[in-house]
Amino acid sequence: MRSVTLKSGENVPVLGLGTWRMGERASERAAELKAVKLGLELGLRLIDTAEMYGEGKAEEIVGDAMGSLRDEIYLVSKVYPHNASRKGAIAACERSLRRLKTDRLDLYLLHWRGSHPLAETVEAFETLRKDGKIRNWGVSNLDAGDMNELARVPNGGNCQSNQVLYHLGSRGIEWQLLPQCQKARIMVMAYSPLGQGPLLRKPPLKKIADKHGCDPAAVALAWVLRQPGVITIPKATNPDHMRANVTATDVTLDKDDLAALDAAFPPPKRATSLDMT
Ligand SMILES: NC(=O)c1ccc[n+]([C@@H]2O[C@H](COP(=O)([O-])OP(=O)(O)OC[C@H]3O[C@@H](n4cnc5c(N)ncnc54)[C@H](OP(=O)(O)O)[C@@H]3O)[C@@H](O)[C@H]2O)c1
Repeated sequence: MRSVTLKSGENVPVLGLGTWRMGERASERAAELKAVKLGLELGLRLIDTAEMYGEGKAEEIVGDAMGSLRDEIYLVSKVYPHNASRKGAIAACERSLRRLKTDRLDLYLLHWRGSHPLAETVEAFETLRKDGKIRNWGVSNLDAGDMNELARVPNGGNCQSNQVLYHLGSRGIEWQLLPQCQKARIMVMAYSPLGQGPLLRKPPLKKIADKHGCDPAAVALAWVLRQPGVITIPKATNPDHMRANVTATDVTLDKDDLAALDAAFPPPKRATSLDMT
């Protein structure tokens, strides 16, 4: 699998799996655990989770799914903004580690910007890094101006990634945020890369999928992954969905495909505020 190399030197696989909506219903737990394990069996080695997902229950599922594979997995979790104070982020990270049954996170993200000053959150992240509880840190849902502000706080330059919404139907980051992150070598983690599902029913995707003999989801993911410095984390509980998604790295979209997708899902023509839904 292709990877993106962080400023810190670590390699991160371009395709992983997301876990939002997991851990919310006890009746779904077994299926969700099976889905994460299937993703790992199919070769995925990047998992994205957060203390918010199922209020910790998604992290517990991930902890149960990883088992002896932990050392091979690039594990990402996120701190709630209301926990992202100097002390609060450290305590939140320790709780996440316990739920994930591990001693360190590979990447720890501020889930979105809240009321704690960025400088305080960065200080906590740097303490966690020095203590070996996280390998790297980053942010999520920060727009271009927030990223400039972050770069100016002490050690703000150690930010390795920004996780933001990016899919064919929402291309706003291409205007400024994406090139800005690429220039600063801040890896962009594209979330909701399938537009949470409905995007996949659009006819142009089906046509290109038929041409490549793959699923529309693989086209949507390959499209996101055409960008340098971008990785993505689709979520699937349905096993057929998971199987379709892992094929995305085998799909290479050609000039004609990209032109057809640009016609159906036009790139931005002006700055817009960062999309989060
Ligand atoms: N940082 C943030 O604020 C933030 C926000 C949102 C998401 N995220 C992260 O990004 C991950 C992905 O985003 P997301 O969960 O919002 O949306 P997504 O991955 O774009 O879409 C997930 C939805 O699409 C369905 N699906 C998956 N594969 C499919 C396929 N091959 N064909 C048809 N449908 C398919 C899933 O159904 P089934 O589950 O039934 O298979 C699920 O309903 C999240 O799980 C989370 O880890 C982060």
